[in-house]
Amino acid sequence: MSTTRKRLFIKTYGCQMNVYDSDRMKDVLTPLGYESSDTPEGADLVILNTCHIREKAAEKVYSELGRLRPLKDEKAASGGMTIAVAGCVAQAEGAEIMKRAPVVDLVVGPQTYHKLPELIAQAHRAKGEALDTEFEVEDKFDRLGSDRQVEGYSAFVTVQEGCDKFCTFCVVPYTRGAEWSRPVDQIVGEIRALAAKGIREVTLLGQNVNAFHGAAPSGREADGPWGLGQLVRHIALIGGIERIRFTTSHPRDMDEDLIQAFADTPKLMPYFHLPVQSGSDKILKAMNRQHIAADYLATIARLREVRPDIAISGDMIVGFPGETDADFEATMELVREVNYASCFSFKYSKRPGTPGAAMFNQVDEAVKTERLAALQALLDAQQIAFNTSMIGKTLPVLFEKPGRLDGQLHGRSPYLQSVHANAPAELIGQIAEVEIEGASRNALSGRLIGPKRSAA
Ligand code: 5AD
Ligand code: SF4
Repeated sequence: MSTTRKRLFIKTYGCQMNVYDSDRMKDVLTPLGYESSDTPEGADLVILNTCHIREKAAEKVYSELGRLRPLKDEKAASGGMTIAVAGCVAQAEGAEIMKRAPVVDLVVGPQTYHKLPELIAQAHRAKGEALDTEFEVEDKFDRLGSDRQVEGYSAFVTVQEGCDKFCTFCVVPYTRGAEWSRPVDQIVGEIRALAAKGIREVTLLGQNVNAFHGAAPSGREADGPWGLGQLVRHIALIGGIERIRFTTSHPRDMDEDLIQAFADTPKLMPYFHLPVQSGSDKILKAMNRQHIAADYLATIARLREVRPDIAISGDMIVGFPGETDADFEATMELVREVNYASCFSFKYSKRPGTPGAAMFNQVDEAVKTERLAALQALLDAQQIAFNTSMIGKTLPVLFEKPGRLDGQLHGRSPYLQSVHANAPAELIGQIAEVEIEGASRNALSGRLIGPKRSAA
């Protein structure tokens, strides 16, 4: 194996699982002598870790490949530049990418990037043959191992991949494959290793994370697979881990045990992302979400009952085929009722191969634009109100890095809000109490009251 120093540039699009996957690609490539670089200029290997969720996300990949072309030409004289497309566009389009963009040397799907070293060698030998978009999740995690390079104090950990729900707007079941959960032992091994490297907060990732059903730890196999609630309680026992989050959940997979975990596990942060997509029962049915608006509202009410300080975030789609003004108003009504701390909202985007793309009653683009603006105005107002409601409260803040101003640190509240406060640098990596004095749409500022406890 050659260990000459080489430069690696990875550009990550889309969701947090792609951020995790990009980190793991770096782990796989480090032993080959690749060192991360912040820019593609002069890089020996460029990886675009792509997203296929909406049309715009997929298009960005092709424009980026256009920008890389001259850089690859320039690098031809000094060792050359290998260009790889990874992630969900790679999975969805496969060999088509190399036809449409000959600048690409290799294509690797989300389940096979542990084979990057072989694929790179193959691409160097014979262009056009380096393609791997198989689904073999188990092999991937076995090969990746638990040794990760870490930066900072917070890390993502994939615990579940894939989706069997087949919402009619969504490409994920096609790009990430069937639902699959990692065994508990493997997850715990990875988190213990992260804690030993200073990680204080873990976010458990899965396309359908609350459908998690991983093999129980050795010695407890007889219990059958564990649900997410059990996993969360087990992770809370790992020394050094102070905060636990998980994302993304589906309303259909909320069980009472997981709701109870919010009540009995203080390390599980009181901030929960539960997408609903629409407030109209007719649209929820057309989306194949398998629940009605009232079910979602009942789950939120139950969560607030067991954990009164919980805040909710979500995802909404406007302009799904067949959405009328009345359906959209039902979405606005649901948003008023939930009162989100934060919520992502999107115009419906037709995705090739999904049932929604073939529906005849597509909504006019101008109507989508209008509805999105109205929804976002309401969501922005809710987010500002939520942040403002923090003023006067004392929040535990996990300090992560120096702030923009001298003497200031930047950290995160339990609700993932950015918090700035004057604090000594020794508090980086620790949780301290901050009294909140100011709030805007995207950040809070406050006064250090004192270290809550050592983070370890
Ligand atoms: N069009 C618009 N938004 C979409 N999402 C997923 N697929 C589409 C689509 N075709 C949104 C959903 C999902 C989030 C990750 O992206 O709101 O929860
Ligand atoms: Fe897509 Fe629906 Fe699966 Fe979420 S639950 S990944 S929106 S198909």
